Amino acid sequence: MSERVFSGVQPTGNLHLGNYLGAIRNWVTLQNTYECLFCVVDLHAVTVWQDPAKLRSSTREVAAAMLAAGIDSEKHIIFNQSQVSGHAELAWLLNCVARMGWLGRMTQFKEKAGKDREAASVGLFAYPNLMAADILLYKGTHVPVGEDQKQHLELARDIAAKFNNDFGTETFPLPEPLILGTATRVMSLKDGTRKMSKSEPSDLSRINMTDDADTIARKIKKAKTDPDFLPDSIKGLESRPEARNLLGIYAALADVSMEAAVATFAGQQFSVLKDQLSDVAVAHLAPMQDEYRRLLADKGHVDSVLSKGVERARTLAAPVLREVQDVMGFLHAKPSR
Ligand code: AMP
Ligand code: TRP
Repeated sequence: MSERVFSGVQPTGNLHLGNYLGAIRNWVTLQNTYECLFCVVDLHAVTVWQDPAKLRSSTREVAAAMLAAGIDSEKHIIFNQSQVSGHAELAWLLNCVARMGWLGRMTQFKEKAGKDREAASVGLFAYPNLMAADILLYKGTHVPVGEDQKQHLELARDIAAKFNNDFGTETFPLPEPLILGTATRVMSLKDGTRKMSKSEPSDLSRINMTDDADTIARKIKKAKTDPDFLPDSIKGLESRPEARNLLGIYAALADVSMEAAVATFAGQQFSVLKDQLSDVAVAHLAPMQDEYRRLLADKGHVDSVLSKGVERARTLAAPVLREVQDVMGFLHAKPSR
């Protein structure tokens, strides 16, 4: 069976270092081995209210960031989800396969809905079914994501397996998560126990892909630490979430193992690590940022990448949706004369 990578990012604000290290950077590597689709998942974004003008600009920004990070839009497909209607159509069909109980266990829903679940949108609850549809619409086999998406991917596998089983077919492959690298869960710079996220109110909690060198250095300088010297072993990072996080980010950006990063800073003060971390972060991100800014000034180019991507994605999606409809027993009426 042919192997195909599918992954997505929501256009809900600034991309940050977590998105880059947890996801996009790995996509850049995988594109050498797999046929890939990279999707700006605007339908996922509207599970919570989005300002329409911001949604438009964020969609372009995320596409530009993918290009700036080094995704080859000639070889691979970059597109926005809402323009391929099969995502919403297959999501409906999968709504009828997935069970309420499965979705009720999703930790992201519990976190995002907070205390007042009754007030959450139905879309927020059904979100993982749409995510399963994204992948299965292309019979995606490999899905590179950060650690936080693991549970959603297990659900996508359960949905694929139940569909196959319910209809006695092998329509869908069971997609495999690819959780790669040393920074699969980048934490907030202000609290090493919370995930770095676009929705965290304090901008000091994250490094945005658009931050300039001074901002990056300032945020790293202000990052939370603990009073001890850095440990000489990975074991010594237990119950030291901030030390673990900063060393993990350093290891990922400097492209060394966690063991090597720990060895480099063993017995040192945080300030030494912070200085070097700023240097590698700026060195790594600056060229990408230049390209990103150039692309944002060229809306026409980004739009043309998306529209080509949409066409190609539709072509791949159509036969799969048709196959699913056939399997489920939907009649394809012939056009009347
Ligand atoms: P999102 O911004 O929620 O659309 O996430 C896009 C991708 O970035 C997904 O693959 C996430 O798993 C990944 N991601 C988001 N936040 C983090 C984080 N703090 N650490 C690692 N990966 C992350
Ligand atoms: N839910 C993912 C996130 O918030 C984004 C996403 C949507 C996705 N559809 C996907 C990721 C399909 C991988 C595959 O990070």
